[in-house]
Amino acid sequence: MKKIAIFTSGGDAPGMNANVRAVVRTALHYGFGAVGIRNGYEGMIDGDMYDMEARDVSNIIQTGGTILGTARSARFMTQEGRKLAYDNLKKFNIDGIVACGGNGTFTGAKIFMEEYPDINIVGTPGTIDNDLYGSDYTIGYDTAVNTAMNAIDNIKDTANAHGRLFFVEVMGRDAGFIALRAAIATGAEAVLVPETFTDLDALVKMLNTNYQNKKRASVVVVAEGDDAGDALEVLQQIKPKLLSQDIRVTVLGHIQRGGRPTVMDRVLGSRLGLEAVRALKDGIKGVMIGQIGGDICHTPFEIAIKHNQTINPTLLEMVEILS
Ligand code: F6P
Repeated sequence: MKKIAIFTSGGDAPGMNANVRAVVRTALHYGFGAVGIRNGYEGMIDGDMYDMEARDVSNIIQTGGTILGTARSARFMTQEGRKLAYDNLKKFNIDGIVACGGNGTFTGAKIFMEEYPDINIVGTPGTIDNDLYGSDYTIGYDTAVNTAMNAIDNIKDTANAHGRLFFVEVMGRDAGFIALRAAIATGAEAVLVPETFTDLDALVKMLNTNYQNKKRASVVVVAEGDDAGDALEVLQQIKPKLLSQDIRVTVLGHIQRGGRPTVMDRVLGSRLGLEAVRALKDGIKGVMIGQIGGDICHTPFEIAIKHNQTINPTLLEMVEILS
């Protein structure tokens, strides 16, 4: 192996830059060339890649976003797109690739390697959603939850000042990890996640009981992909039945994707980047490099993407008991 490339793909996540930095510097440490591919699979298709030196990743460990850019590539879903990507990788003499991303990124990598068996890709879990099997945490999740927590803390101030009920929507199209952890950390009254059936009648009952008991303010954290709908949709369905009528909805949106990575995401991004290069060096491919209980784990892409992490029911119950 002579040249190792890195790209970031899908939704950006704080800590991706720490991951890029670690891949580049570990590759150079072992005497390989390091290449950055811009804008995920799009850059592979367009041949938008460049040789990277240690200094190219200076001063980025503390920044959100990704210096390489990212994209969700529709072209890579076509055979023609993948053929162009393959030809470019050969042209640039790339022997190993680290793909930092989530479900879509690893699905693409798996198909690509089935079509072109001489392509060697390992993945690092870069997504705020924490929805990959094979790592306790994904890069970016901790920062996103802290951002959500700080925002909800602020909302609670004004909710208490006015005596209002708030529905706060957090990211998570298919996963409730951000919602659940943010709800626990802020002492929210309820949390709605896509993984479990949402009983709106039970929610109404609980909120009305709180209202009758003169609880001053309540916060319901809603994952955007909840089975009952997003925060606005949930409210529309239950508003006529709610006793409290001083209600607001806040959608946190993309502020959860940005910001300075927490210490956890910087360290995780760095460690998984280093281990990804070591794996390629050892001839390993087709796996996501994760961390479980402090140990490095290699999980085949098809397992990482299909066997979604499950929500811990004890934590869901905890929100209810502690609210
Ligand atoms: O995949 C991560 C994620 O943050 C999801 O939680 C969210 O639904 C989605 O990205 C939104 O991404 P975009 O705005 O890039 O389409």
